[in-house]
Amino acid sequence: MKGNPDIIAALNARMVDELTAIDQYTAHLAQVTVWQYSGLIAYLEERIVDETRHFNTLRAWIIFQGGKLTAGVLNRVNIGTDVKQMHLFDRTAEETAITLYRDLVQLCIQHKDADTRDVIEKILADEIDHLRDLEAQLTQIDQMGMQNYLSARLA
Ligand SMILES: [Fe+2]
Ligand SMILES: [Fe+2]
Repeated sequence: MKGNPDIIAALNARMVDELTAIDQYTAHLAQVTVWQYSGLIAYLEERIVDETRHFNTLRAWIIFQGGKLTAGVLNRVNIGTDVKQMHLFDRTAEETAITLYRDLVQLCIQHKDADTRDVIEKILADEIDHLRDLEAQLTQIDQMGMQNYLSARLA
């Protein structure tokens, strides 16, 4: 199977984005683990599993399409210095991911590549879920205040 070069290039770029997301979420997990906010540990571990699955899916798909894997340097990783800033940085990352995966869906439509489009739409649906979760966390912080939000995540 021979993939379209523009699509392969975009897949490689999104693969680097996923690695960057893994790095950012891993740093945030390390922080909440040291701070012992138990209620945030499972949530972040789940994110890392999802983003790692996306990374692996993209890499396998590039190989399957006969594309070359390009070694990328990580994008900018934004590590929050407190829990609210962590969520804000993660929200920005998820919003960017959604925009870029939507662009990739458009590129697939343009090149009539229905198979890659299916792969990307599954990842896109996960990123939309991730964004909704972050919006909910930030709404909780606004509604109950930072101290109550964090207290609820101690046990
Ligand atoms: Fe992802
Ligand atoms: Fe995500």
